[in-house]
Amino acid sequence: MKFELQHKDPKSKARAGEITTDHGTIRTPIFMPVGTAGTVKAVHTRELKEDVKAQIILGNTYHLYLRPGLDILQQAGGLHKFNGWDRPILTDSGGYQVFSLAGTRKITEEGVMFKSHIDGSRHMFTPEGVMDIERKIGADIIMAFDECTPYPCDYAYAKNSMERTHRWLKRCVDRVDETEGLYGYNQTLFPIVQGSVYKDLRERSAETIASYGRDGNAIGGLSVGEPAEMMYETTDLVTNILPEDKPRYLMGVGTPANILESIALGVDMLDCVMPTRNARNGMLFTSEGIINIRNEKWKDDFSPIDANIGGHVSLFYTKAYLRHLVHAKEMLGAQIASIHNLTFYLWLVNEAREKIKTGEFASWKNMMVEKVSRRL
Ligand code: GUN
Repeated sequence: MKFELQHKDPKSKARAGEITTDHGTIRTPIFMPVGTAGTVKAVHTRELKEDVKAQIILGNTYHLYLRPGLDILQQAGGLHKFNGWDRPILTDSGGYQVFSLAGTRKITEEGVMFKSHIDGSRHMFTPEGVMDIERKIGADIIMAFDECTPYPCDYAYAKNSMERTHRWLKRCVDRVDETEGLYGYNQTLFPIVQGSVYKDLRERSAETIASYGRDGNAIGGLSVGEPAEMMYETTDLVTNILPEDKPRYLMGVGTPANILESIALGVDMLDCVMPTRNARNGMLFTSEGIINIRNEKWKDDFSPIDANIGGHVSLFYTKAYLRHLVHAKEMLGAQIASIHNLTFYLWLVNEAREKIKTGEFASWKNMMVEKVSRRL
């Protein structure tokens, strides 16, 4: 994997670049749609390419390992072949999912013992085991096995957890470096900075992660309930330490405003379930602000969902029609809303990239944050 830093915004820490993988290039800053179980919910791969213009999607180790399981994925020739997405894929390690199974998991130095949410069966994730699983799933970018601490989290817990995450990282790196890609293309490991909201811990973690010199680095443990200001301060501190010549991935963030603010702090990659999950509840993100399409006020609004973002679905269907579909609980409602929200997110990061290239990002960002946060 290669990262080329192409432009730096003169008035913020925003950057534009290009990541090259064996499944194609990713122009940054980029938003990555979440495809937990090997599918971006309600969206075909063809729509992801042609409408949404997604460049990379996520998969999740925890879910894919439990179902369909590694045998099937390997028989298929890896996740790209299985789901038909031939562009880059990133897998999260399960370091987020297994820790949110409070009560049904036990953490030791060796790893995490947990119970499946599907059938209650018991499983053990270790750093080595997770690396082997991610290799078999076949993602281009594989995330280290970490613990995402909750918020709030006391200092002693955050420190112990971070130190264990660092020891686990060493085990992940050793395993990845001694195993070859099964599928004939490169698979690269991104380590994850932790440390909750404690400045000294975050500094130590960022320095430790940077010292491994991997192809890219991630920031975890944020957007877990802390105030937005704390998230930005922590991100700012960490991006000052992580190397400039490697992509930086902020995990699980966020609203359109969060995304723009994070890009301004030097983040290159982001992912979040929000555009797809909220779409299924009738929340639409648009270039003019946020819409609850269930509201009465849209019932006779025959204007396009969003005419400004160049997406076929967003221009073709009206707000009134989408409101009708959502009220009637028609499946097409969830499909249109999901495609629209993702198209908007990809449009937003592409606009950010263009503004970085022309040096206008900082003032554009301030105007856009206000616009996209309005409730219509
Ligand atoms: N997704 C959102 N936050 C995190 C995190 O801290 N760790 C992992 N592995 N995934 C995440």
